[in-house]
Amino acid sequence: MKEVDLADTTQDVLHVEGGKPLNGTIKVRGAKNFVSKAMVAALLAPGVSVLKNVPEIRDVHVVSDLLRLHGATVDWNDDKGTLKIDATNVRLADVADVDTLSGSSRIPILFSGPLLHRLGEAFIPQLGGCNIGGRPIDFHLETLRKLGANVDKEHQDGIHITAPNGLHGAKIHLPYPSVGATEQTLLAAVQAEGRTELSGAATEPEIMDLVAVLQKMGAVISVDVDRTFRIEGVKTLKGFTHTALTDRIEAASWASAALATHGDIFVKGAMQPEMMTFLNVYRKIGGEFDVTDEGIRFWHPGGDLKPVAIETDVHPGFMTDWQQPLVVALTQAKGLSIVHETVYENRFGFTKPLVKMGATIQLYRECLGSLPCRFQQRNYKHSAVIFGPTPLEGRDIDVPDLRGGFSHLIAALAASGPSNVQGISLIDRGYADFRGKLAALGADFD
Ligand code: EPZ
Repeated sequence: MKEVDLADTTQDVLHVEGGKPLNGTIKVRGAKNFVSKAMVAALLAPGVSVLKNVPEIRDVHVVSDLLRLHGATVDWNDDKGTLKIDATNVRLADVADVDTLSGSSRIPILFSGPLLHRLGEAFIPQLGGCNIGGRPIDFHLETLRKLGANVDKEHQDGIHITAPNGLHGAKIHLPYPSVGATEQTLLAAVQAEGRTELSGAATEPEIMDLVAVLQKMGAVISVDVDRTFRIEGVKTLKGFTHTALTDRIEAASWASAALATHGDIFVKGAMQPEMMTFLNVYRKIGGEFDVTDEGIRFWHPGGDLKPVAIETDVHPGFMTDWQQPLVVALTQAKGLSIVHETVYENRFGFTKPLVKMGATIQLYRECLGSLPCRFQQRNYKHSAVIFGPTPLEGRDIDVPDLRGGFSHLIAALAASGPSNVQGISLIDRGYADFRGKLAALGADFD
C-alpha cells in the first residue's frame, strides 16, 4: 500500500484498470459527520476529552488544526484511532489562520456556541465543504440570534459573533430539519441560561451520538417523538470519553461498490440499526447481505439486479449521502430506476461523467416521487431516471465532490478498460485509507 500524506494534494490522480470484482474484508471506523462535531463539543469543557474509533481523514485533520488554533491541544494515536483533546486553555484564533483552513470544511460555523460560552465571541470564516447546492447558513445564524448572540455580517472575510452577557434559552423552530443547524442549537443551548426548545429538528444517528457525548459532559437534553429537543442549560461541563458510531455512509459506499463490481465485501464495523433503510433498498435491488456481530457482508449474487424508485430524506429516510454510490450500481439494474433528491437542490452533477462512461441517466426538474418536495417548480434538476443495464467504459474523470467522487471511483472500478480519476484527494476528506482498502479488495490501480 502506498503511504499517503493527507496534507499533500499532489498525489491527485488514480489510474484504475476496471472490470474486476472487489472481493475481501475492510474495516470502517467512526462517522466523519459525528467525529468532527464531537471534537467541537470538546471545546465546551475546560478539561480533557477522549474520542475513540476516529478515522484518519482530512476533515479530522482540519478540525484538529482549528482546535489547536483556538488554544486546545490535540494528540492523535492512529493505531488505536484515538484523539485526546485538552481544551483547558481556549483563546480566540488569528482570523487569517482560521481563514486558511476555512476553504476545506463547514465545521467552523459549529465553533460558535462553544466559543461564545468560553470567550464571549467567535469569528466564522467563509465556509467550504462539498459543492452540492447553495448550502446557506441562515438557520444557524437565526438560531444564534434567538439565543441572544449578536451576529455581525459586515466583515469582508467572515462573520463576527458576540455574546458578552452569555446566551439564554429560547424557543426555536427550524424551517427544515437541518443536521448542522440542529447541532448548532445543541452546542449553543447546552450552556445557555434557562430552557431551549428546538422543534423541527433533525434526529440522525450522528446527532443522537452527539447528544450522548453532551450528556456525558453534564448536559440535560431530551427529545420528543415529534423531533423536538428540550435542552436545560447547565453552568459547567466536563470532558468526555466516547467511542464514535460507525460511518454508515462509508459502509453503504462499499456495499454499493460490491454491487456495481459484482463483488463480495465484508464491511467490518458496519451496524444494522443505522443502515436499515439502506439495507431494505439493497435487498429490493437484488443485493445480498448478511449481518454478523463484527459487521455486514455485502455481495452481488449473480443474475440481474432490479430497478428501484427512491427518495432521499432526513432520518429515518434514505440518506442523501447514500445516493451517489448507489446510482452507479443502478446503472447495472435491469429497467428504469428513479432517484428523487429532496435534501440538496443540486446533487446530480456527478451523473454527467457516468453518462460519458456509457450510463443512461436523465435529470428532471419535476419531483419524481410520492410527494412534491421544497424544490418543486424551482428549476433545479433534482430527480434522476436511470436506465439499465448499460456497460460502463473507462474514461478520464474529474472528481467534483466527496460522495460524487467516490461514485466515480466505483464506476471506474466497474468499467471495462482504464480510467484516470483526477482530484482524488477530495475523497480523503471522508474515506479513510481508501487506497489501502482498494488494495485489500484486489482492485487494480496505481
Ligand atoms: C450534513 O451537512 C453533512 N455534513 C452532509 O454530509 C449531509 O449530506 C447533510 O448533513 C444531510 O444529511 C456534515 O455533517 C459535516 P443540512 P449539513 O444542514 O449539516 C439546507 C457528506 O458528503 N439548509 O442538513 O450542512 C441546506 O441547503 C455531506 O458527508 C438551509 O437552507 O446539511 C440543505 O438543502 C455533504 N439553511 C438542507 O438544509 C441552513 O442554514 C440540509 O442541510 C442550513 C441548511
